[in-house]
Amino acid sequence: MAELAELVSVLKAAGEGTRVRLLALLADGAHSVKDLTEILKQSQPRVSRHLKLLADAGLVQRNAEGAWAYYSLTLDGDGAELAQWLIGHLDPEDVERRRDIERQAAVRASHTAQATEYFAKVASSWDLLKTLQVPEEAVEAAVVAALGGRRVETLVDLGTGTGRMLEVLADSYKRGIGLDSSREMLTVARSRLSGAGITHGQVRMGDIGDLDVAVGPADVVVIHQVLHYFDDPGRMLAQARRLLKPGGEMIIVDFAPHDLEFLRSEHAHRRLGLSPEQMSRWAAAAGLVVDAMQSFPSQSGQRGLTVCLWRLSDKT
Ligand SMILES: C[S@@+](CC[C@H](N)C(=O)[O-])C[C@H]1O[C@@H](n2cnc3c(N)ncnc32)[C@H](O)[C@@H]1O
Repeated sequence: MAELAELVSVLKAAGEGTRVRLLALLADGAHSVKDLTEILKQSQPRVSRHLKLLADAGLVQRNAEGAWAYYSLTLDGDGAELAQWLIGHLDPEDVERRRDIERQAAVRASHTAQATEYFAKVASSWDLLKTLQVPEEAVEAAVVAALGGRRVETLVDLGTGTGRMLEVLADSYKRGIGLDSSREMLTVARSRLSGAGITHGQVRMGDIGDLDVAVGPADVVVIHQVLHYFDDPGRMLAQARRLLKPGGEMIIVDFAPHDLEFLRSEHAHRRLGLSPEQMSRWAAAAGLVVDAMQSFPSQSGQRGLTVCLWRLSDKT
């Protein structure tokens, strides 16, 4: 039960047109202020002021990450309940709401296009992980070990890039499918897989931010060094979960939180690593359980990045 004054301040914060639009947008996943400014077509100070009011009233939460900040809906409390109620009563056919949904899709498509353009440029000389001193061998050995010597029916590798995971795990699946949005990366993947004689692992073009469930059902979904290209990795995880068979597993590899802003400005990253707490929250929201997490510190101490491997499973 909330106190009267508290309740009134939450109602006041939510009781304004732009702020209801913001709540509805954030119900579909986290966004940076820059994205929200683009979607709402309002000035950044104005959008930031609305977001601050919503955050102060407990309707949304702000997560600072390097030079950017991400906003998402609060998950529990009176603010969260009110936000859900409001969003549930919004008419999706409302003209303004429809325009917001269209612009939100366009903003997401532009992020995918940026990543695709970047990967088109680097496809033939993909060595960023090496320059960051990532302990690749140890991580790959752990990915193989995560499958415990089993050979599953179907493995789907999301954001397959040069097909490295399909190659490393070739003995662990009967049918492997790699999806990627970069034609250039896929060209490299095809030639690497055929060069290695792997015919049961194939790659296809596809936007994993808008996943076609027909790619599944999969026993195992692998997402290796991909989630940090998405503003809302939790949304991506929820989509990927739809590909899993009941009892299926996910292997996720990504960076631990870091402060290397240049990965955003020069290498199309959107998130500066993922924390164990974020992963647990996103997994739970997607109906998955985190079974294990391993950390692999950089080989170059302070300068490099720590890599984390998460094993998630569906317990339905
Ligand atoms: C850092 S690479 C990792 C490739 C591979 N998983 C590996 O670890 O070797 C990230 C890959 O994600 C792909 N990617 C990024 N956004 C994507 C999207 N929306 N849909 C499909 N692939 C995407 C890129 O094209 C790129 O090949």
